[in-house]
Amino acid sequence: MRILAIMGGPRKGYGTMIMQQLEYQLKLLQEVEFEYLYLKDLHLEQCRGCHNCFFKGEDKCPVGKDDRDIIFNKIDQADGVIFMAPAYALHIPALMKNFFDRLSYIFHRPCFFGKIAIGVCNCGIADAKKVTNYFNQVASSWGFNFVHRLEIRTMPIEGAETKIVKKIKTTCKVFLEALNGKRYQKPSLGSVLGFKVRKTQHKIARDETNADYKYWFEQGWLEDDKQYYFDTRIGISKRIIAGLLNLFLKPQFKKMFAGDPQHVYNQYLKLESLNFEIIG
Ligand SMILES: Cc1cc2nc3c(=O)[nH]c(=O)nc-3n(C[C@H](O)[C@H](O)[C@H](O)COP(=O)(O)O)c2cc1C
Repeated sequence: MRILAIMGGPRKGYGTMIMQQLEYQLKLLQEVEFEYLYLKDLHLEQCRGCHNCFFKGEDKCPVGKDDRDIIFNKIDQADGVIFMAPAYALHIPALMKNFFDRLSYIFHRPCFFGKIAIGVCNCGIADAKKVTNYFNQVASSWGFNFVHRLEIRTMPIEGAETKIVKKIKTTCKVFLEALNGKRYQKPSLGSVLGFKVRKTQHKIARDETNADYKYWFEQGWLEDDKQYYFDTRIGISKRIIAGLLNLFLKPQFKKMFAGDPQHVYNQYLKLESLNFEIIG
């Protein structure tokens, strides 16, 4: 079993102490391979906002060769991923945000199904919930089955360590149970609707030069009977809501992509989708 801990803080501080304790407790329960990936030690350029990764493919990123693909491959080889960061200025540190920005194409082309994720945040006093909530959103959108959030305050309060270790033990139990059990997440209403929106968009646009379209087509997600990214039971109420959303979306997308869909995407890329001059 391979576990990858992605460390998003700019130093080896309390976060490292907590993660080492988590690694120790995990290994008491089960033999696992445990790897630390410190974003601070990697070379990751900032996202330039060109949108090429979405429309043309991640290999068309203008940044060139940095460590982005090393990170991707490490995640790809892991069974379980721990997203960890301290709270900074009410949210995640810039390092971690840039990592998510640079891998944003995975929001459009999710690929980590069958992997388990948890989120850990250490904070001074508050804001850890916001961070782990965000980890949940990111990981779930990327295809992970996100099963647990661990939030820890690092203020010097007497007896804190005992409480922290207790929480970590619970985290390890939940994490291992998920890793050893059924790996696939139960689809939420949000993710069923997200699937429907993208599917409808690509089925109507059918732009074979578009990286998202190609990926969705190759995965078989554009086939009529596909309700979700993987075979699973979708409850009747979710299917009805998705069907209604589809009824609303279809004419919108038809209008948007009437004519040449590639031209619509290119216009967007060239910042020509909005033209305020016509308002005057
Ligand atoms: C620049 C900076 C911003 C911070 N912002 C917050 C914050 O918004 N909320 C909070 O609860 N703690 C905040 N903290 C405290 C850290 O989250 C806390 O001390 C954490 O345990 C540090 O982790 P580390 O030792 O792994 O770096 C901040 C710390 C720094 C250095």
